Amino acid sequence: MVQLDLSGAQSFFTQAGPDYAAAARAHEVLASGTGLGADFTGWLSLPRKIKETELDRICKAAELIRSRSKALVVIGIGGSYLGARGAIELLRPVPGKDDPKVFFVGNGLSADALADTLSLLGDCDYDVNVISKSGTTLEPAVSFRIFRELLKKKYGDEADQHIFATTDAHRGVLKSLADASGWESFVVPDDVGGRFSIFSAVGLLPMAVAGIDVRKVIDAAIREFEALDLRSPGNPAWQYAAARQNLYNKGFDVEILGCYEPSFRFMAEWWKQLYGESEGKDLKGIFPASVEFTADLHSMGQYIQQGRRALMESIVRFRRSLSSCPVPDSADNADGLNYIAGRDLADICNVAADAVREAHVSGGVPNLVISCSARDEEGLAELVCFFELACAISGYMSGVNPFDQPGVEAYKKNMFRMLGKPGAV
Ligand code: PA5
Repeated sequence: MVQLDLSGAQSFFTQAGPDYAAAARAHEVLASGTGLGADFTGWLSLPRKIKETELDRICKAAELIRSRSKALVVIGIGGSYLGARGAIELLRPVPGKDDPKVFFVGNGLSADALADTLSLLGDCDYDVNVISKSGTTLEPAVSFRIFRELLKKKYGDEADQHIFATTDAHRGVLKSLADASGWESFVVPDDVGGRFSIFSAVGLLPMAVAGIDVRKVIDAAIREFEALDLRSPGNPAWQYAAARQNLYNKGFDVEILGCYEPSFRFMAEWWKQLYGESEGKDLKGIFPASVEFTADLHSMGQYIQQGRRALMESIVRFRRSLSSCPVPDSADNADGLNYIAGRDLADICNVAADAVREAHVSGGVPNLVISCSARDEEGLAELVCFFELACAISGYMSGVNPFDQPGVEAYKKNMFRMLGKPGAV
């Protein structure tokens, strides 16, 4: 289980401190399925269910792709994209020599980005995993149309065998196309929204193709959700949710999530969607932003230290580093660095993190530390389960429905009208 250190936020809390009674109520409402959006809480049992249903087939499909292709093109956006990308970049920032490269398209409308991906793909053998719960989202739908044509040109009659579709179990254009064309298909469960779907085929198939041990991830996630059912202030999800809400009520309405591992970058993007889309509604919500340390200390560090005091800072730390890199001794000490000779880079990084924390707290930025075991399959499961549960609890504490996203329709309506879609107004 992740551990929370709230000591860097203590002096900023109200006198009453984080409201654990409210966190307990929110947890109960979530677990009993009596809250807003209760139809979309299937993610709580998703690891167990996926193990009983699709996990074997996901692993088989991944094996097939790994055995015949040099690349997998994943087409999807938002919740149908960020979890897989976050996990792959965190655990496999450098693809192994036998691992297919995973390319992500359909997460925007940039012609240049698509052309760049096509040039990276070159003429290598590849498969396509199109992911869309609704099947109607424009960005992935357009990319998929383009890739279907490319696959037909490349593989002729065999093209359909290179397409894997992850979509709704019963409805939607993608579901109909998949059935009609005989593509191998996986399900985004009815009771799981996009941003909570990382432990379905949405996240697991691309992860498995990239060489991540998804069985390990799922087993760890089953254990994590069980452990996180703890109904006490010792639950880190209660601590995080209650601390954030307390600070929000004191005027800290921007949260920056930071990490000292550059490979965490897309996990932070996943987290931003999870919290932004779940909490940002009814004119409420903490604005989620992210920073990459120590790099951003040399750019955003100034603002964090001395800018407008609205920031709270949550730092993800991995307790165990996977690599070691001691600083070499130097006979002439021309660069003056012998005072750290022999110390490991990971150890120096930990010292830097402690120093930053002290500076930011004294500069008026409440600091929460979220520590997890290591940057591996178990660590990924720990983080995902923790962030998902805390997000739902925090959303319920603030009185919103954490599982809908009515606001994202506004731009789509305008875009469809401007593009002349039949029936659009
Ligand atoms: O979390 C969500 O629900 C959204 O981010 C969706 O995942 C995103 O809009 C993509 O939708 P779809 O999977 O229907 O294409």
